[in-house]
Amino acid sequence: MQTKPLELQAEAFSSGARRGARYLQQLHDKPVCAETARLDLLDPGLSDKGIAVEAVLDLMETIGGEGTVSSAGGRYFGYVVGGALPAASAARALLSAWDQVADSLTGPSVIRMEEIAISWVVDLLGLPVGTTGAFTSGATMANMTLLVTARDALLARLGHKRGAGLIGAPQLRIVASAEIHATVLKSVRMAGLSTDDIEWVAVDDQGRMKLAVLPELDAKTIVLAQAGNVCTGASDPIKDLTARCQEAGAWLHVDGAFGLWARSADALKAPLEGLEGADSWVVDAHKTLNTPYDAGLALCRHPEEMQASMAIGAQYLPATTPSPANRAPEFSRAARGAETWAALLSLGRNGVSDLVTGFHLHAKRIAGELKTMGFEVPHDVHFNQVFVTLPGAEDACARIVENVQASGEAWFGPATWQGKQGFRISVSNWSTSDEDVDRLIAAIGTAKDELT
Ligand SMILES: Cc1ncc(COP(=O)(O)O)c(C=O)c1O
Repeated sequence: MQTKPLELQAEAFSSGARRGARYLQQLHDKPVCAETARLDLLDPGLSDKGIAVEAVLDLMETIGGEGTVSSAGGRYFGYVVGGALPAASAARALLSAWDQVADSLTGPSVIRMEEIAISWVVDLLGLPVGTTGAFTSGATMANMTLLVTARDALLARLGHKRGAGLIGAPQLRIVASAEIHATVLKSVRMAGLSTDDIEWVAVDDQGRMKLAVLPELDAKTIVLAQAGNVCTGASDPIKDLTARCQEAGAWLHVDGAFGLWARSADALKAPLEGLEGADSWVVDAHKTLNTPYDAGLALCRHPEEMQASMAIGAQYLPATTPSPANRAPEFSRAARGAETWAALLSLGRNGVSDLVTGFHLHAKRIAGELKTMGFEVPHDVHFNQVFVTLPGAEDACARIVENVQASGEAWFGPATWQGKQGFRISVSNWSTSDEDVDRLIAAIGTAKDELT
């Protein structure tokens, strides 16, 4: 008897899941660095007849698997990318079987999950009731979405007709932290705004905007602040910025790609006081919350403005439909918010707070132990990020990074901050254990001894 097509798919799906489970089970011992020598085998040539699904998965599991950096595991301390919580990664697997288009007509349950997830995030972060949001592919797209919204809102307030484009529009001003994340500048460009004319605000020795040198603000200004400096984890003085922006009628946008989550933990939320007074916020689920990529979240206190900038208004999708397509840049989109729903549902309020606090405690330990080994951490440990340098031998830092990566024991990247060369450690994986931190510190110690 012939196997039915969907039974074939179900078998392939189980095979993929078994292989995924096998991968996760050996992460504890797998070198964190990727083995890339055999990657050419991923191109056996595009045949006329194709090959069996199992053969595809075999090739992917063996050659593809060995070529992965183990960012899913606890000894990965690079960028700020987190791992994937059990509920969230299993939700991804289920979603891939459902293959929903995240729209209210074609995916009612996943849309509901997205809406619920947004309301939970708004609640956890203490944002104003009525805040609207949309899941995007990440913070870069979320920042762009909100910069477009801010741009259109300010221009409309200045009497410029919506939809008339930027030619002949009043000149807007952008005031930004000198240490705003590099991707935000790309978002500024994608929103059709000028990066050449940004009025930069100098930062202090923690990487926070200095309010004393904040220029005069007005109703033509978008202020770009951050919650979570990528090197130090520090946040700009949000409370005072909020007051200054509200007084002047400026739009305050906060990029909190990883750092906004600090607001969900009692021990860490104080620097983010006043956050609720901003106009828009960005936070990634795929960073600190540990959902699979790619899930950013654009949040805005002015639902009508976000809708006005992002709505599509097709005959079959009126602009008034509460569809994510009317708030997000994409039309067809994956139901990425359902993974955030699963992550939050599984963790609960205390679980999120414990996750975030746990990152901070590991980061503090790492900073403390590296300092006793002769390294310098030239900032306080505000959250989960640690910038490390080696006084008198800064140029050895890049080689320490290379040696640790090559050892397979841990993975993090080089960085330069405020004129110092060093490396940056980010604790952002839910599964990082004390033993993983032991192995990181031991590997750094070995590399330092070999090189200095
Ligand atoms: C502070 C900050 N903003 C924005 C981004 C860009 O985020 P994404 O990669 O999700 O687009 C990052 C990425 O690390 C970040 O750390």
